[in-house]
Amino acid sequence: MTVRAGILGATGAVGQRLIQLLEPHPDFEITALTASGDSAGKTYREAAKWRINIPIPETVAEMTVRETAPDDVPDDLDIIFSSLPSSVGERVEPGFCEAGYVVSSNSSNARADDDVPLTIPEVNADHIDLLEVQRDERGWDGALVKNPNCSTITMVPPLAALDDAFGLDRITVSTLQAVSGAGYSGVTSMEIIDNAIPHIGGEEKKMETESRKLLGSFDGAEVQWHDARVDASCNRIPTLDGHLENVWTDTTEDATVTAAAEALREYPTLDLPSSPDQLVHVYEEPDRPQPRLDRDKENGMAIAAGGIQATDDGLQFNCLAHNTMRGAAGASILNGELLLERGYI
Ligand SMILES: NC(=O)c1ccc[n+]([C@@H]2O[C@H](COP(=O)([O-])OP(=O)(O)OC[C@H]3O[C@@H](n4cnc5c(N)ncnc54)[C@H](OP(=O)(O)O)[C@@H]3O)[C@@H](O)[C@H]2O)c1
Repeated sequence: MTVRAGILGATGAVGQRLIQLLEPHPDFEITALTASGDSAGKTYREAAKWRINIPIPETVAEMTVRETAPDDVPDDLDIIFSSLPSSVGERVEPGFCEAGYVVSSNSSNARADDDVPLTIPEVNADHIDLLEVQRDERGWDGALVKNPNCSTITMVPPLAALDDAFGLDRITVSTLQAVSGAGYSGVTSMEIIDNAIPHIGGEEKKMETESRKLLGSFDGAEVQWHDARVDASCNRIPTLDGHLENVWTDTTEDATVTAAAEALREYPTLDLPSSPDQLVHVYEEPDRPQPRLDRDKENGMAIAAGGIQATDDGLQFNCLAHNTMRGAAGASILNGELLLERGYI
């Protein structure tokens, strides 16, 4: 079965990664692209300032970019991947779901809503069945599924592994985030070259809330958020792609470095088409992972971890993920693959 896929916000940083990953995908076929009114009516080649180091796929280059509205996309799309600015997503995504479309979205709107699954398939695939609650409550024929923020995705799989092994009482994280995380018009070169910015608007709150929902448990009716305290400090640095994070955890049970490394290495992956063979790669070298060296591991879909140390109250470690691949486009596609596997599309 070929699954007909549309992309909302197809010209942006995440939209381009969606095209890169969907064009060779075994199940999904790109059949519609949308963007803002400035791009609508142009061919994709004319509308998009393509910034990925492969050519624009020929199957996409001459497609006409559409307006971002349910009436402007084909009726027979099986799934829509959304990479719109969150203010736009908040305005238009519910209309697509009401019109019967299944939307797998990157935008931050609605991630904390009680009836919206926020999923990283390897960590909390069971939360996807929150869609039954969503359909009952909202009366939608379609559905809305979210992936978390890129900085949250980077740390949550290692944290899930450590939570399973030792229990987590407290999580503290400081990030070093790449400029592509802000989208193409997010940070100017005058702001970021020879600089670091110790503030990313709203990012800290997203990491603190989303990680507790992701690590929570679902009883078939609602998600009980994890009760660990989470504190985040977010920093923008002049790397292009790849978020590096320093994480401290207070563990419930005593943890050793060896047992922690084993828990991370052995944390299970899935058999979905975009799943990495190994979810968390653990480095022994104290100066790894590094963005330039380690962000592309397993087509940018693996998480890298290292620098594991025991502390008085638990563990300290570093982790890294490619923010527009694992942290955004790849995350939405994995959710799409999960929706397909579970019969929601
Ligand atoms: N970058 C990351 O690492 C990352 C990671 C996780 C999540 N996200 C989230 O993913 C979303 C997209 O991020 P991005 O970095 O790809 O942003 P971006 O580069 O700024 O791209 C935004 C896209 O949305 C379209 N758009 C803007 N205003 C619109 C409107 N009024 N109506 C319809 N389309 C509109 C743009 O089309 P035009 O080209 O026509 O303006 C473009 O296609 C955001 O919600 C972001 O928070 C990003």
